[in-house]
Amino acid sequence: MGRRVLVVGGGGREHALGWRLTASPSVDAVESAPGNPGLAELGPVHAIDAADPDAVATLAERRRIDLVVVGPEAPLVAGVVDELQARGIAAFGPVATGARIEGSKAFAKEVMVAAGAPTAGYVATSDRDEAIAALERFAPPYVVKADGLAAGKGVRICELVEEAREAIDDALVRRIFGEAGANLVVEEYLDGPERSLFGVCDGTDVALLAPAQDYKRALDGDGGLNTGGMGAYSPVPGFGLDDVARLRELVFLPVLQELADRGTPYRGLLYAGLVDTATGPRLLEFNARFGDPETQVVLPRLASDFGELLWASATGSVRDVDVAWHEDAAVTVVLASGGYPGEYRTGVPVSGVEDADTLDGVQVFHAGTRRDDDGRLVTAGGRVLNVTARAATVADARARAYEAADRIAFDGLHRRTDIAAGV
Ligand code: AMP
Ligand code: GLY
Repeated sequence: MGRRVLVVGGGGREHALGWRLTASPSVDAVESAPGNPGLAELGPVHAIDAADPDAVATLAERRRIDLVVVGPEAPLVAGVVDELQARGIAAFGPVATGARIEGSKAFAKEVMVAAGAPTAGYVATSDRDEAIAALERFAPPYVVKADGLAAGKGVRICELVEEAREAIDDALVRRIFGEAGANLVVEEYLDGPERSLFGVCDGTDVALLAPAQDYKRALDGDGGLNTGGMGAYSPVPGFGLDDVARLRELVFLPVLQELADRGTPYRGLLYAGLVDTATGPRLLEFNARFGDPETQVVLPRLASDFGELLWASATGSVRDVDVAWHEDAAVTVVLASGGYPGEYRTGVPVSGVEDADTLDGVQVFHAGTRRDDDGRLVTAGGRVLNVTARAATVADARARAYEAADRIAFDGLHRRTDIAAGV
C-alpha cells in the first residue's frame, strides 16, 4: 500500500508538487490544504490556515496522512513541521530553527561564511551609522537587504549612495518593514545570471535536483519590478552535472555539516540561489523550500519516484534513493494579473485552461485561481497560472508553452514574451 500525502499550500509550486506526487508509485492519495482548483482535481482540499501548526497537524491526524509536504516558507517559519514531528507524523521540510536559513538573511550569511561557501562580502547590523559606513566597503551598485521576511520587497539595489542611505533609513529609522527590517545586511553586488539549485536534504546528505533558471523581473528584457518569478526553464545550458557535483562539495555538504555542528541538522529542501559570476558561482541566498515557478520545470523532468525521495528526506537517508531525469526540457510561462507585483484585480473569469491542457506535453498549474459560487474559474492572486510544456529541447518546450498560453484568456492578463528565448 502506498502512502497518503498532504500538500500544505495553494500556489503553482504546490500544484506541481501534488501533481508529481500523484504520479509517484509510492503514493496512493494526495490531499491539500488549502489547495486550489488544480489540486482539487487530484484529491480532497481542506480550507484551513496553512500557517497554523495545530490546524495542519489535526487535519493530518484526522485524514490518516503518512507524509505532510510543506510548500511555502510561512508554515515552516511558524513551526508546522515541529508540531507534526511532536505528534509523530512524518513531514517534509525543515523545523522552524532550520527555516531561519531563509527567515534571517544575517543568519544565512553567517552559516555560509562559517561553512566556507562562496558568497558576497557583507556587513550585518542594526545600527544606522554602521550600515552607512559599510557602504564605503563596496562599489556601486549597493545592495541593502532587510534581515527578515519582507514579502519579497526587502532587497534594494541602488546605483547611488544617496539611494542606499535612503534604503537604510527606510528600514532602520522609518521601519517600513517593521521588525523584519530592524536588522540589515549590506553586501557586495554579484553580477551575472541567477540560477536555482534545489537540494533534498536528510541532515547530513543531499540529493541535488536538476538546475533551473528563473525570470524575476516583471517585464521583457528583465525590466520592471522584482516579482516572485515570471517564468523558468530547465535544463540550463552551461550548468551541467559537473557544476552540480562541484556545488555539492563547495556549498551543500559544508553547509549541512555546519548546521549539524550547531545542533540543528537540516532536513527538507535547501534552495541555493546562485549567481554565475566571472569568477565562478557565488551564493546569493538560501531558501528553505522549493522555488516557485522553478519547481514547475524541474519536477516534470524527474523520472524517478518523487514521493520516495521526500519520504527519505523526512524519515531516513537520501543516499540510496534513485534520482533519475528525462533527457528533455521544460519551460513554464507565468500568466499574471495586470498590475502584479503591484495592485491588481481578482475575481476575473479565466477561459481556455482545459483547451491548453490538451496540447501534447502541456500541463497548466494553478497558482492564483479559485472557483466562484457558480463553479467558474476566476483569478485569485497576482500569479494566476503557470503554463508548462515538456519537449525535446528548451526551444521546442518554449514554443509549445507559448502555443498553450495563447489559448488562455482573462481580462488584464500579463505575461513576459521572452521566457527561455535564445536559450
Ligand atoms: P532575495 O530577496 O535575497 O531573493 O533578493 C531578491 C533579488 O535581488 C535577487 O533575486 C537578486 O536578483 C537581487 N539580489 C539580491 N542580492 C544581490 C546581490 N548581492 N547582488 C546582486 N543582486 C542581488
Ligand atoms: N522563484 C524564486 C523563489 O521561489 O524564491
